[in-house]
Amino acid sequence: MLDVVILGFGNIGSNLCNALDDTSQTSVVQVFNRSAIELPNNLKSIPFTSNISEIKEADVYIIAIPDDAITDFSATLPFNDKLVVHTSGSVPMQALDGKNKKGVFYPLQTFTKNNLVDFSEIPICIEAEEETDLKLLRTLGESISKNVTEVSSEDRKTLHLAAVFVNNFVNHMYHISEDILKESNLGFELLKPLIAETANKIKGLTPTQAQTGPAKRNDLKTIENHLHLLKDSPYKKVYEQMTEAIKKEYLE
Ligand SMILES: NC(=O)c1ccc[n+]([C@@H]2O[C@H](COP(=O)([O-])OP(=O)(O)OC[C@H]3O[C@@H](n4cnc5c(N)ncnc54)[C@H](OP(=O)(O)O)[C@@H]3O)[C@@H](O)[C@H]2O)c1
Repeated sequence: MLDVVILGFGNIGSNLCNALDDTSQTSVVQVFNRSAIELPNNLKSIPFTSNISEIKEADVYIIAIPDDAITDFSATLPFNDKLVVHTSGSVPMQALDGKNKKGVFYPLQTFTKNNLVDFSEIPICIEAEEETDLKLLRTLGESISKNVTEVSSEDRKTLHLAAVFVNNFVNHMYHISEDILKESNLGFELLKPLIAETANKIKGLTPTQAQTGPAKRNDLKTIENHLHLLKDSPYKKVYEQMTEAIKKEYLE
């Protein structure tokens, strides 16, 4: 049984806590959060503290707080020579304070606090300085996921960059679409089957094979009409840049 302390109960901390509490191979022995919070009913039996000096003994400590706070926070931990990992896609393992053994436990998925996800298909990217710690992180990862991979800090940076395009930028496109529809009192619901099929399609096709639309077809009149509809909208620039990028890829 692996004893885990979760440090930070935000989007990923709460999701990891739920997943790790649900397996027989791991035990969440404590949750720490900077400010006092109430754990949800199903996790009420887990001891909670907001006092850093009361952090319990564990096999691994998972820091799940914003990227910019990880280094300073890891330096405030009141113990040495323990395995301390963070969950960030973009922070190097070496950013952790050197008084503890360093590692990374990065689940490549998008997490929101009150939206629990199934970890079984989520890739978990692990990294550690020592082989025994890597083994421990693999066991920890495999207790909740079928997909645990060793990834270096350098490669994780690239993965995170790619993830920003497919997740954060695509999601912002949803926001733009919702905003455009609002102007005509049309519901975003109408687009949901299209969104689902766009994501579904790349299970069997490459993104290049799946690309459709006026820019790829070079339907200039349609593009002109769209630009006219956008008039002075701030989204006009986004439309122009995306259209140019697609044309460059497929027509040049
Ligand atoms: N969310 C995702 O989709 C996702 C996916 C993969 C990886 N990650 C990584 O996971 C980590 C956490 O992301 P998140 O989205 O879960 O963040 P988050 O929800 O914003 O994190 C909130 C938690 O961080 C604590 N916190 C904030 N600033 C702090 C500080 N200066 N010192 C100590 N604790 C502090 C908060 O404490 P209070 O309650 O006291 O404010 C709270 O416990 C990041 O490294 C992120 O890159 C996130």
